Amino acid sequence: MSACISLTRSAVAFRNSRTLVLVRYAQTAAAPAPEPKIKRFQIYRWDPDTPGDKPRMQTYEIDLNTCGPMVLDALIKIKNEMDPTLTFRRSCREGICGSCAMNINGGNTLACLNKIDTNTSKVTKIYPLPHMYVVKDLVPDMSNFYAQYKSIEPYLKKKDESKRGKEQYLQSIEDRQKLDGLYECILCACCSTSCPSYWWNGDKYLGPAVLMQAYRWMIDSRDDFTEERLSKLQDPFSLYRCHTIMNCTKSCPKGLNPGKAIAEIKKMMATYKEKKSSAI
Ligand code: SF4
Ligand code: SF4
Ligand code: FES
Repeated sequence: MSACISLTRSAVAFRNSRTLVLVRYAQTAAAPAPEPKIKRFQIYRWDPDTPGDKPRMQTYEIDLNTCGPMVLDALIKIKNEMDPTLTFRRSCREGICGSCAMNINGGNTLACLNKIDTNTSKVTKIYPLPHMYVVKDLVPDMSNFYAQYKSIEPYLKKKDESKRGKEQYLQSIEDRQKLDGLYECILCACCSTSCPSYWWNGDKYLGPAVLMQAYRWMIDSRDDFTEERLSKLQDPFSLYRCHTIMNCTKSCPKGLNPGKAIAEIKKMMATYKEKKSSAI
């Protein structure tokens, strides 16, 4: 008897779901196709493998009805459906890896966090990060930036290594909190490449991203090399090319404040210099 009831129930459920599908289908079929929303993108192109190729802007048109909301969605759509030669970096597509940093409508930002301006009368212009050598299209050469990052020794350094690997280096909650706003940096270089001082002296001035990481290790309560780290920045270029213009802080897509970190290093440097001269 109960088998019979459950069979009847399934038959009703099947009939209902079929009806629902048919109704849904009828609704979908009746819905008019949305008006195309054609958005134009002008993108910097340059291919070093094509002899004599000169940098140029190439225009692509996309129907926003068939594209995700972010600029990275548009770039992926262009590459997948229109032009596989378009070259750019991306990985996480959620603001974590820092690889999709580029200049969009005049500002350095992450393409995956930057919403497409849906005003179709305006063209969206996309360039690689400014004042960097270009590898191809939207891909900048990050070699100098990474070499500078390496130069600040971005890792914990201890004078006494005897406890290394034997126990954890503990830190108070307060000391750990001092690193907030610093450790979240994803090294996208949006800040450094928006800094005029870095544009003109990028070979000798470390730039805001790298200096903020230098500061992050200087104030880590577990690190024993604060003075040595400060002393390495004592030249006219590494630190002192920062003129507090604050483009860096404005451009950070993670909402960090490298300009403030640089100001803090300058304060530490003053105390460090005083200490050094009184010791002589
Ligand atoms: S505050 Fe310093 S690092 Fe930031 S943009 Fe200005 S000069 Fe560059
Ligand atoms: S401070 Fe901000 S803009 Fe600069 S590298 Fe880090 S995440 Fe990018
Ligand atoms: S793709 Fe990783 S930050 Fe944009």
